Amino acid sequence: MPLARVGVLGGGQLGRMLALAGIPLGLSFRFYEPGDPSPVRPLGEVVSRPWDDRAALAEFARGLDVCTFEVENVPVEAAEVVGATTAMRPSPVALACGRDRFAEKRLFERLGIPTAAWRPVTGPGELAGAVEALGLPLVVKARTLGYDGRGVATVRSAADVERAWAMLGCPEAVAEELVPFDRELSILAARGTGGDEALYPIVENVHVEGMLRRTAVPARDLAEGAAAAARAAVGAIVRDLDFAGVLALELFQHGDRILANEIAPRVHNSGHWTIDAAETSQFENHLRAILGLPLGPGRQTACAVMVNLVGEVPAAARLLAPGVHLHDYGKTPRPNRKVGHVTVTAPDAGSLAARLRELRGTLPDAT
Ligand SMILES: Nc1ncnc2c1ncn2[C@@H]1O[C@H](COP(=O)(O)OP(=O)(O)OP(=O)(O)O)[C@@H](O)[C@H]1O
Ligand SMILES: [Mg+2]
Repeated sequence: MPLARVGVLGGGQLGRMLALAGIPLGLSFRFYEPGDPSPVRPLGEVVSRPWDDRAALAEFARGLDVCTFEVENVPVEAAEVVGATTAMRPSPVALACGRDRFAEKRLFERLGIPTAAWRPVTGPGELAGAVEALGLPLVVKARTLGYDGRGVATVRSAADVERAWAMLGCPEAVAEELVPFDRELSILAARGTGGDEALYPIVENVHVEGMLRRTAVPARDLAEGAAAAARAAVGAIVRDLDFAGVLALELFQHGDRILANEIAPRVHNSGHWTIDAAETSQFENHLRAILGLPLGPGRQTACAVMVNLVGEVPAAARLLAPGVHLHDYGKTPRPNRKVGHVTVTAPDAGSLAARLRELRGTLPDAT
C-alpha cells in the first residue's frame, strides 16, 4: 500500500518532478493529461481525456487521497469536479485566482502589494483608452491561458494597439505599464494544511521573450528592505488564499522598489534549483504540504544557477561536468519548448562562477 495516492491534473515536467520527489516518500501517482503525457508516463497511471469530460474526471478522482494540479491552465470546473469527492489542494479558489490576471491584480491591490499601474481592457478601444490613461509603453496580457510569454504583447506606440490586441486572441485582458526593471526576482513559499510555512531564498531570474532562461540563487546584493517586502508579500498571499502547497510570487525590482508581477499557485520553474541545492525541494514540500505532513526547511545548501534547456537537450556526455545536474523531461524536441534544465552547483559564488566559465559554449546562456 502506498502512503497515499496522489492525483495530478496535468502531466508535464512539473508533474514529472512531483512524482520523482514523491515516490521515495512512498507515494503513488495518477495523472490527468489531455495533451502529451510523455514526461509522466514512466511514473504513474495516466488518464488522457479532455478537461471537459466530467465523467472521466470523476472516475479519475476515485481512490485518490488528495489531488493537486501542476499547471494553472486547468479549467476551474475540472478541479471542482475532482474536488467534489477528493481533497483538492491547492483549492479551486486558489487555482481560479492564479489563472486569471485580473483576479491576481485585485488580490495584490487588496493586500496592499505594489504592482505596475494597470487596468482591465476588453477590446482595442479600451486598450487605446489605457494608452491615454497609463501612457506608453504598455504591456497587455490575456486574462487567462498565457504562459512562457504567450498571451503577452507590448504596445510601444498608438499604432501598435490593433496589432497587439489581435496577437492576444482573447476577449479580456489587462494592460499595465512596462516596468523598466533592474532585474526580475521570485520567491516561493510552501504552506501546509495546518498553516505552517516554509520560505525559499529570493532568486534572480532572466527571461528572454517572456520565457524563463536562468535562475541564480540567491539574488545578489538584495537590500534587506526589499527582501523583507518580498517575504511579507508572499506570506500575506498564501495566508489570504488559505493556501496549501507551494506558491511562487514573481517580482520586478526597480531601484529600491519591489513590484509584484504575478503569482503561480503551484511549483515553479524558478524553484527547480531546489532539487539540487536546497534542503527540501519545492516538489517534496508541495507534496508534504498537501498531505498534511511536516514541511522541510527551504534552506539553500549550495550556490546554484539553473539554466533551462529550450528546444532540445544537448548530449548528456557534453553536459555532465562536476557540479552539473541534468534534468531531461522526456519531451519531444521542438523550438521554444522547455525540454529540460540543468542546475550547476558549487560551494561558493567564486567556484560557481569558475564552473560556469568552464561550461561556456556547452550550456545555453551559461555566463
Ligand atoms: N509590466 C511589465 N513590464 C516589463 N516586463 C514585463 C511586464 N510584464 C511582463 N513582462 C516580461 O514578460 C515576462 C512574462 O510575463 P508574465 O510573467 O506576466 O507572463 P507569463 O507568460 O504568464 O509567464 P510565465 O511563464 O511566468 O507564466 C516577464 O517575466 C517579464 O520579463
Ligand atoms: Mg511569469
